[in-house]
Amino acid sequence: MTLRAVEAVAHATVANLGVGFDILGMALQAPFDVVRAERRPEQGVHIAAITGDDGKLSRDPTCNTAGIAAAHVLRQIGATDGVSLTVHKGLPLASGLGSSAASAVAAAVAVNALFGEPLDRAALLAASLEGEAAVSGRHADNVAPALFGGITLVLGTTAEAIYSLPLPSNLHLALATPAIAVPTAQARAVLPQNVPLKALIHQTAQVALLVHALHTGDLALLGMAMERDSVVEPARAHLVPGLAEVRAAARAQGALGTIISGAGPTLCSICDSAACAERVADAMRAVYAELGLPATVRTTRPASRGATWRAI
Ligand code: HSE
Repeated sequence: MTLRAVEAVAHATVANLGVGFDILGMALQAPFDVVRAERRPEQGVHIAAITGDDGKLSRDPTCNTAGIAAAHVLRQIGATDGVSLTVHKGLPLASGLGSSAASAVAAAVAVNALFGEPLDRAALLAASLEGEAAVSGRHADNVAPALFGGITLVLGTTAEAIYSLPLPSNLHLALATPAIAVPTAQARAVLPQNVPLKALIHQTAQVALLVHALHTGDLALLGMAMERDSVVEPARAHLVPGLAEVRAAARAQGALGTIISGAGPTLCSICDSAACAERVADAMRAVYAELGLPATVRTTRPASRGATWRAI
């Protein structure tokens, strides 16, 4: 079955979870990107419009994460006609919320659905990674949760290397995104090339503790493990204004842990209730107001489902 037009939604992701650099990611219910795909007789990918990006993203489909992922799907299915994409960015760019991954996943899912879903999610992972790699490097810790949902352990770039971890039912989140862009490449360039054995042991222990906390649903333990990153956060902290202040203010309102989301500058606090997340969000707003830095603050929850689509 082929359709005339399809709209796909792919969600923001937090990846890393403090510790678990490049191997742990979590899908969020909000924000999200929406990609609309329509058939066109000419082969290849055309980008009709992008909204919500302040004109910052390339409209050239060979340079755009959604365009690259869509082209990969078309090649894999041997399509003889092409697609026109309209990308609605709900995610802020360069914010540590997996913006490029969400657009790539939404485009891959939309184009595949348009042609009757010939590809499975494993193949869509490869297509999405093509798009993500063009912008952020070839790592699947954002793409995998955006595509599959929930919290994923990502041991490689193929579907067999993705493991779904338990999602605690009472996990609530508060997010603050200060109005500065931190390109992923810049945030990766500041990381140490080598890690002392002592640091490796500490970091490995925290990842193990985090996985244990997910399996037992112990959010206090989860927050503790997430905050104990001694390798990546110290190297990136100077790129994220307000980290110490937000962490302290969030903790005072009952947050169980606060981390840099992905490459930053978004900060993510975990809470065990919606009311706590709202209090933490208010505290985050107050911190950034005090610092004189505009920031977008929101509460959300993990998304158990991955990207979805509907015919339009
Ligand atoms: N794990 C990645 C990082 C996510 O922290 O650099 C950003 O794409």
